[in-house]
Amino acid sequence: MPLELVQGDIAAQTTCAVVTAANKELMGGGGVDGVIHRAAGPELLRAIRPLGGTPTGTAVITPAFGLAAQGVQYVIHAVGPIWRGGQAGEAELLAGAHRHSLRLALENGCGSVAFPSISTGVYGYPVEKAAPIALAAIAEVLAARPDLTVRVVLYDVGNLHVFQRAWARIEGRQV
Ligand code: AR6
Repeated sequence: MPLELVQGDIAAQTTCAVVTAANKELMGGGGVDGVIHRAAGPELLRAIRPLGGTPTGTAVITPAFGLAAQGVQYVIHAVGPIWRGGQAGEAELLAGAHRHSLRLALENGCGSVAFPSISTGVYGYPVEKAAPIALAAIAEVLAARPDLTVRVVLYDVGNLHVFQRAWARIEGRQV
């Protein structure tokens, strides 16, 4: 299945679409969102502000502006849930943010998408819980669209290993 798990910087990717971990107000922020906005330039914020926000568990798509220089055509602004202990629908919202992002990428003709580990920074979602949910949502779409390549970019090696173990479990390998 065309899934790649890599350690790196989301803003350095050259995929057709790059996903950022946004907030529902679409106001720009820190973490991944700060890095993406810096790389794309101020036009990115000007493009999403008029949208007025998007609910948690959904995503919106814009041009990539400054990131186009490295071949990225779109930025997908995905809003993951804030971790509240696991009983507030977080899993379904996290899966929804991934599904919606992939739908937007496909609708816009993209063959490759790079994701960060949504919600596992400022939003506090434990990465051991988030990884299997994110990957299951991605796997569901890849099963129907094997022509798509999805790359998950983990900033640190610890998170990369968590995602690798979760992916092995989805594939039925024991690790
Ligand atoms: N490349 C890839 N992953 C990264 C990078 C990078 N350059 N930098 C950090 N990470 P976060 P969230 C990892 O906080 O939890 C913003 O202010 C990081 O280690 O960016 O969804 C938004 O505006 C972590 O595992 O996103 C929202 O208000 C993961 O990316 C809020 O934060 C996500 O961390 C969203 O919080």
